[in-house]
Amino acid sequence: MDTANQLASVGTFQVLKLPLAFIRVLEWLFSIFAFATCGGYSGQLRVSVDCMERASSNLSMGIDFAYPFRLYQVSFEAPVCEATRRERVFLTGDYSSSAEFFVTIAVFAFLYSLMATTVYVFFLNKYRENTRGPFIDFIVTVVFSFMWLVSSSAWAKALSDVKVATDPDEVQLLIPACKDPTNKCGSLHGPRWSGLNTSVVFGFLNFVLWAGNIWFVFKETTWHKGTSKLAAGASEKQAGTFSQQPYNHGSLDQPSEYSQVGGPTSYSNQM
Ligand SMILES: *[C@@H]1O[C@H](CO)[C@@H](O)[C@H](O)[C@H]1NC(C)=O
Repeated sequence: MDTANQLASVGTFQVLKLPLAFIRVLEWLFSIFAFATCGGYSGQLRVSVDCMERASSNLSMGIDFAYPFRLYQVSFEAPVCEATRRERVFLTGDYSSSAEFFVTIAVFAFLYSLMATTVYVFFLNKYRENTRGPFIDFIVTVVFSFMWLVSSSAWAKALSDVKVATDPDEVQLLIPACKDPTNKCGSLHGPRWSGLNTSVVFGFLNFVLWAGNIWFVFKETTWHKGTSKLAAGASEKQAGTFSQQPYNHGSLDQPSEYSQVGGPTSYSNQM
């Protein structure tokens, strides 16, 4: 009895060896990296204003900003270079729509890939019995692929604009005192970009994963099963029982058992 239970649970998680399910797990992980690196970002740049009247200078002004990059709301106190007067200076630009769109897609992709993995692991037979399951999975996968491409491109463009808008050399131009050549303004350091660059990379990696998985989900749909039934005939009949038999035998590593047609396609047709 114990051994039987053990075998059954091993069989359940063997599902993760299917490309469909394995890619879902990667999608799940990569979506976390995408929204965590973008949504969790905060950066700082630092500039100096060295007034002719030394006493009114501020040689180290830190300017903090963060997700969602509504830079027009980010401000700092800059010296006017007259006595100790200061004035509030605002950064420019609003990149929140692209950043929030990207994070929203990443969060929903995270939820969907988690849910889909759960379904494959625990309800694979039900998923395959019902033609509607693979169909919905296919449509959602196509939509997410498109959304990843659009949101990653939009976010990549917004990020390059954020980099310009928070460049210390550009920020100096916003400080009125720096327009007077008798005052010297300088850049101490710019923000760190590695986290946000990573988020763009993971956005496009997610696009590749989701677009690649369209094919594996398509193979679960009746369209594909219908056409391959015509082509492959009898050998296809075993596809329905694939989910029970091979797993219980633990024989996913032995493609020979169900590759009557030969070649790599027969293995994939069974899925
Ligand atoms: C310089 O600006 C920072 C804000 O970035 C402020 O905290 C600091 O008090 C200022 N220093 C002087 C001398 O005004």
